[in-house]
This record gives sequence, C-alpha cells and structure tokens, in this order.
Amino acid sequence: MINVAIDGPSGAGKSSVARLAAKELGFVYIDTGALYRSVGVAALKKGYDTTDREKVVSMLPEIRLELGFIDGIQHVYLNGDDVSEDIRRPEASMAASNVSALPEVRAFLLDLQKNMAKTHDCILDGRDIGTVVLPDAQVKIFLTASAEERANRRYKELKEKGHEVDYDALLEEIKLRDYNDSHRAAAPLRQAEDAVLLDSSDIDLPQTVEKTIQIIREKVGNL
Ligand code: DC
Repeated sequence: MINVAIDGPSGAGKSSVARLAAKELGFVYIDTGALYRSVGVAALKKGYDTTDREKVVSMLPEIRLELGFIDGIQHVYLNGDDVSEDIRRPEASMAASNVSALPEVRAFLLDLQKNMAKTHDCILDGRDIGTVVLPDAQVKIFLTASAEERANRRYKELKEKGHEVDYDALLEEIKLRDYNDSHRAAAPLRQAEDAVLLDSSDIDLPQTVEKTIQIIREKVGNL
C-alpha cells in the first residue's frame, strides 16, 4: 500500500489539499484530526472540562470510533452516531487540541490510524503522521503557511458558512493551537526529517495540490 503523510499546523490547508490530491490519484483520504475532534466532542457531550486528564481518560473505554466513506467523503461515527457535523463546530477545535495532548488519547487512536493505512492506498493528514503514526510512509509532506494567512482563510471559510467571526480572535486561537500542538510532550507537531516542506502562504489551493501531486509522483513514480 502507498501511504502519504501530510502534517502541519492548523489551517494550512492540509485537509483540502489531501482530499483533492487523493481524489486525483484514486487514493483514500483519511482526516485524522476528525478522530481527535470526536474524542473532544465526546468529552463535551459528557460536560467534561477537556483539559481534565482524569475525566477524559476515564471516558475512553466507553468510546467506539469508526470511519466510514460515503461517496468518497469520510464520516466518523462515535458509538454508532455520525458526528461528522458536530466535530466541525468551533468549540470542537479547542476541545480536540486539549484532548490530543494526552498520551492516553493518542495511544487510543493509534491502531485505528495504522490499520486504515495498512489496508488502503491513502493520504493521511494530521500532526504526527510522518513522525509517529507512519514513520515508514513512502511520502511525507510538511504543509505550512503563515499564521496570518491561515487566520485569513479560516475567516473567509466561516463567513461563507454564515458564522459570526472576529479575525483577531481567530488569529489568537490559531497561535494558541500552534503553541499547544507543538509544545505538548506527547507527539508534538514537528516536521519529520525526511519530510518535504511545502509553504502555501503565497500560492492558492490548486497550485498547492499540483505541487503535492508532483512531490508524490517524484517519490513513488507515476500513478
Ligand atoms: O486538523 P484538525 O484541526 O482537525 O485537528 C484538531 C486537533 O487535533 C488539533 O489541534 C491537533 C490535533 N491533532 C493531533 O494532535 N494529531 C493529529 N494527527 C491530528 C490532529
């Protein structure tokens, strides 16, 4: 199986790039952030403080997560319920960042991610795919963009969906999540030594997808 790891900070465009590149190549796109978001949503549903390690960890044995694909789109099921929309709510982002700092949560999600990669030609996006989940992935890309450009894109995206948003608050949240994600002790966000760095600050989505496919083809040949 061919595995492509795309890691990078929040809002760098990983999911759009991974989804479009996977479609072009006939690969499955696996959004691993959705798994952390689902654990965050499970904790919020219980009314837990998502930074409360004991409470979050105590809940893990009661959680069953499954990934399904409908028309090529990933859906995530939490104890049988499709939570694909719930996990996109703004409060799910910080909840995901909080629970993702817990080694128990990371260990809980590891096998599910590895098994998906074992059974599919796929592109996985996340923070630690190239460093921890799939250190032997044939292709590793570290996709980044400036915090300001990422806040800008997120602002437009939320506005289009009709959400009331404040640019400065978004920028602050992005910086805070970057800090959390790269300073946690467990599997922090960092570029794998053998990853190709792709900065999308000054290029648009189609150009980023094109460069991504080019990197993949250079590594594994024409697909
Ligand atoms: O990519 P995203 O915004 O959906 O991710 C939500 C949070 O989950 C993010 O703050 C970091 C965390 N995450 C992680 O720690 N490891 C991954 N492989 C994917 C996401």
